[in-house]
Amino acid sequence: MSNALKEYLSLSQARVEKALEDRLPSEQLLPQKLHQAMRYSVLNGGKRMRPMLTYCTGNALGISLDALDGAACAVEFIHVYSLIHDDLPAMDDDDLRRGKPTCHVAYDEATAILAGDGLQALAFEILAQDSSITATPEARLKMIIALARASGSQGMVGGQAIDLQSVGTRLNLPELENMHIHKTGALIRASVNLATLTKPDVDEEVAIRLDHYAKCIGLSFQVKDDILDEESDTATLGKTQGKDKDNDKPTYPALLGLSGAKQKAQELHEKAIESLSGFGMEADLLRDLSLYIIQRTH
Ligand code: IPE
Ligand code: IPE
Ligand code: MG
Ligand code: MG
Ligand code: MG
Repeated sequence: MSNALKEYLSLSQARVEKALEDRLPSEQLLPQKLHQAMRYSVLNGGKRMRPMLTYCTGNALGISLDALDGAACAVEFIHVYSLIHDDLPAMDDDDLRRGKPTCHVAYDEATAILAGDGLQALAFEILAQDSSITATPEARLKMIIALARASGSQGMVGGQAIDLQSVGTRLNLPELENMHIHKTGALIRASVNLATLTKPDVDEEVAIRLDHYAKCIGLSFQVKDDILDEESDTATLGKTQGKDKDNDKPTYPALLGLSGAKQKAQELHEKAIESLSGFGMEADLLRDLSLYIIQRTH
């Protein structure tokens, strides 16, 4: 990881931790168990890649970080809700997440379902009324629509449905790509687009290029996740290694082999860099982030 990115990530990670904590209901608030479960699942050391993308995109567009906190938290809350539900027995049935027992193991299944539901609603409440967001009412509405589409049946939830119905079947490459673009890519794309929507009068060509960059890294992120599931270890990942094979999931390594999957990740990184060719140094963090996504160890 470049030093500039390392420095920026540690600064903005500290920033988003505080922003998330501030926006979560207190553990004392009724119903306490539900609020404890929501806080347990959010405040537990995720990489915060989606908030980082929102901040780094904002940085490339000259937007102040203060104006991005609400959007950064909204995407992370949706992401954490998706992880809580992804880990449920009815889905991937995982008992380890971010190095700790999954929400349904630490609490119970009903609480985990509700904690996810609560985080999803909180994300939209933040986009609708968080005072950090300086966008015009029209732009705020566009942000709400963008996150709703990215999260719903034509975004993340749709991708998760394809994932579950594909267990035990053999998807071809376009089908696998379509699944990944939805289940992981959509929210990563939204993380970038929420920052773009924060800037008034952003040049359309700039917005299109950033969106294309986001599409590439959204896919490379899940390709790398599949690779790590196969070749990393449980302690490093903070989630059980080898679960995709155990669950007979269609993944890039399953279809292309490990080296084919790595080549695909590299190609996507190169395409992401190409999408930023019209930008100068202001997009260096985004370039570094794309490389980090395919080189990360967890
Ligand atoms: C894991 O996401 C699930 C996917 C969508 C691939 P992350 O790797 O971003 O998980 P955390 O947030 O760092 O735990
Ligand atoms: C999850 O994909 C994508 C989500 C929408 C949560 P995975 O099932 O591969 O994520 P991990 O490996 O459990 O984090
Ligand atoms: Mg899954
Ligand atoms: Mg999973
Ligand atoms: Mg995975």
